[in-house]
Amino acid sequence: MTLCTCIKAESVKVAEDPTVTRPGSHELVPIDTRPLVAETPLSALRSWLTPTPLFYVRNHFDVPEIDADTWSLTIDGAVSNPVEISFSELVRLPKKTVPAMMECAGNNRSDLDPKVPGNPFRDGAVSNAVWAGAPLKPFLQQAGFSSGAVEVLFEGTDRGEPEPGRGEAPYQRSLPLQIALHPDTMLVYEMSGETLTPDHGFPVRLIVPRWYGMASVKWLKSIRVIERPFVGFFQTERYVMTDESGTEGQLSLMVVKSFVSWPEHGTSLPVGQPVAVSGMAWSGAGPIRRVDVSIDGGATWQDAHMDESAIGYSWQEWHIDWTPEEPGHCTIVARAADDTGNLQPLENYWNPLGYCINGVKPVCVTVV
Ligand code: MTE
Repeated sequence: MTLCTCIKAESVKVAEDPTVTRPGSHELVPIDTRPLVAETPLSALRSWLTPTPLFYVRNHFDVPEIDADTWSLTIDGAVSNPVEISFSELVRLPKKTVPAMMECAGNNRSDLDPKVPGNPFRDGAVSNAVWAGAPLKPFLQQAGFSSGAVEVLFEGTDRGEPEPGRGEAPYQRSLPLQIALHPDTMLVYEMSGETLTPDHGFPVRLIVPRWYGMASVKWLKSIRVIERPFVGFFQTERYVMTDESGTEGQLSLMVVKSFVSWPEHGTSLPVGQPVAVSGMAWSGAGPIRRVDVSIDGGATWQDAHMDESAIGYSWQEWHIDWTPEEPGHCTIVARAADDTGNLQPLENYWNPLGYCINGVKPVCVTVV
């Protein structure tokens, strides 16, 4: 496991890591402005529900201006009965609510060493919201997909050059037919009780619970049932990686992960005062079964308390009660395991595009 720089610094009598940034508690932490890419501040990662203005944003192109009154969504391709849905028709249907967290596949990319290209996300390209809208499945059934259908292709209204010299293209992603037909794959128009905001896909976006965020296409424009696997920049050139076993594939489910949200790295804690060491954990493969926490850099571990079970596809809050007994430096680490037997690795798995970074991450505090 990588020790935090603060512990290394201790041996040369440097008490605090000057590279640690402390973003404001009430604003997104910008990574890029055009298109907007911004992280959730650490302080907001302490609450189960991420306030919408602090929900991370990952846009590949400029945000399109869309008028909900004239917006419509078409479902065509390998179907017997193409469908067109207007906004007013969609919102008149029975509303379904799905709590779901979302993580960008590049979250924690900046922790990789050697560095990789791409947005240098630290810990905040992850958030949790309660989404509301209508399941996609009945629309696909109404359209009558062919027996040869293998995938469903989603296109956003946003477009631009994915890379210089590549020509303009829309944001497009496909899903395997059975994932598109999952009852919780949703056409969403509300986020945590409010109308979807422009940055998060107004008027309608897709939500694919348990998958990395790239699958949840914003500003939906069209849906096409296809009989061959889709090939496209954001499908087969990005959001792909070769895993540790050497298998190359497209990203899908979020890998098992946890982080410590309190105390923050670099905090000073008084001796004898109880602290609730807390954080979040999640896995796309299944519910979190256990989070082990260590306050001595991994020498000894204890089982964290799960703060109620995670609702829907949201993240799991956890905590341990700790009373620091003597002054000095402590390295806190958390390690999650899910119900299907996946265990968060101690080290990050380096890959050239910097995806699925889930190694245990130390948080160093000083007891005074
Ligand atoms: N959909 C469209 N149309 N355009 C995009 O750039 N970004 C994707 C996904 N859907 C994107 C998109 C990525 S990579 C992520 S991580 C999530 O949206 C982020 O959603 P958010 O900005 O609402 O957090």
